[in-house]
Amino acid sequence: MKIAVVGSGYVGLVTGACLADFGHEVVCIDKDQARIASLEKGGIPIYEPGLSELVNANIVSERLAFSIHLSGAVSRADVVFIAVGTPSRRGDGHADLSYVYAATREIAKALSGFTVVVTKSTVPVGTGDEVAHLIKAENPQADVAVVSNPEFLREGAAIEDFKRPDRIVIGLDDERAREVMTEVYRPLYLNQAPLLFTDRRTAELTKYAANAFLAMKITFINEVADLCEATGANVQDVARGIGLDNRIGAKFLHAGPGYGGSCFPKDTAAMVKIGQDFGSPMRLVETTVSINDQRKRSMARKIVAACGGDVRGRTIGVLGLTFKPNTDDMREAPSLDVIRGLQDRGAKIVAFDPQGMDAARGLTENVQFADSAYDVADGADAIVLITEWNEFRSLDLDRLKSAMHMPIFVDLRNVYRPHELRRHGFSYVSIGRPEQDLKGSALTDAAE
Ligand code: UDX
Repeated sequence: MKIAVVGSGYVGLVTGACLADFGHEVVCIDKDQARIASLEKGGIPIYEPGLSELVNANIVSERLAFSIHLSGAVSRADVVFIAVGTPSRRGDGHADLSYVYAATREIAKALSGFTVVVTKSTVPVGTGDEVAHLIKAENPQADVAVVSNPEFLREGAAIEDFKRPDRIVIGLDDERAREVMTEVYRPLYLNQAPLLFTDRRTAELTKYAANAFLAMKITFINEVADLCEATGANVQDVARGIGLDNRIGAKFLHAGPGYGGSCFPKDTAAMVKIGQDFGSPMRLVETTVSINDQRKRSMARKIVAACGGDVRGRTIGVLGLTFKPNTDDMREAPSLDVIRGLQDRGAKIVAFDPQGMDAARGLTENVQFADSAYDVADGADAIVLITEWNEFRSLDLDRLKSAMHMPIFVDLRNVYRPHELRRHGFSYVSIGRPEQDLKGSALTDAAE
């Protein structure tokens, strides 16, 4: 198949590279000339494990190319993916569809022969209808089928998610498009990944429902963590206890500082708006959004309490800035709220992140950036672990402690075991786990 991918950002690039790897002939298009020039030489603008290798291998095998010229690639294509951004519109939380519609108009003019136009960007219900309408208005002769094929990939595991998806959701109203889309995903289909064909609106809504459900699941366990702190129970054991029930499932039950990233905050806000627009309010999602916002802000208070109630003039070391590990993405990262909250209370911040510091420089003020976790610890009055990068999982605790001014460790991801940190002489605070951790230490002592 000949495929054009319009928009060479995160989703476009991963989609283009993976489809080329399936054996299709793919051109990724972007308006940003510098980005395309760099991609042609194999320069990847984002940090995503395995993506650079995949892009380069497919450039060499001539299945993947890049261009700023949309019309040539679209006119030759059997399938055109729209993978441009749909940021939250400033002020009202609606998804901003201006990039999607601008791309659609350009695509419409360039179409030739039967073409399947696929929206991969996350778009509100009814956008596919609008895309079809715009194409017809712009080019009444166009022979086109508009398809909704939302993307469920996670940053940091994007290639794995694309190549081994739980399911592929395809919304369409044209039987010819069903054949084309089956062909596009044939390698996955052969691997038994279910292709779920629906109508277009259902596919569009499925994407929001999936993200909102996961955001609710995280928010639920975060509230349970607070209840555990109040009652002396252990949230990790509660999560395990409920997660082993297949109806609930074990994933996305890690309590933490609140969810961030480019998808959950934006998509939950957009789903709330869709509910309001259609007169069918999404009250659970509305509540999830507000609890999560409050939670990200409340983490600073937790840290201040761990420091004895006052952080004025104190130096707090931050480990991890990105919204999750294995990405350089800082969008809606809880670290930003934590840092702001601590600075407002008079603390000085020293931070380290394996990939996120470049982006963080532009989003924070008066933060000193360090070269390693141990640099962060140097003279610090407390350390706060915000993002669970692997390299923070096996820190040399004695070295860390001896570098610090005060051995206070606040672990917002429950990476460490309380008794372990206490044995190393830290005052340790984590999320939803009892202060004394008597059961944990008994179990570990028995194992040791
Ligand atoms: C998410 C969806 O998982 C993906 O299907 C969709 O296509 C895009 O949005 P992503 O934003 O890359 O992917 O990250 P994800 O791994 O889902 O994590 C999102 C946020 O939730 C992170 O801030 C993470 O730290 C947090 N999280 C996740 C928790 O706090 N606890 C969990 O148990 C899981």
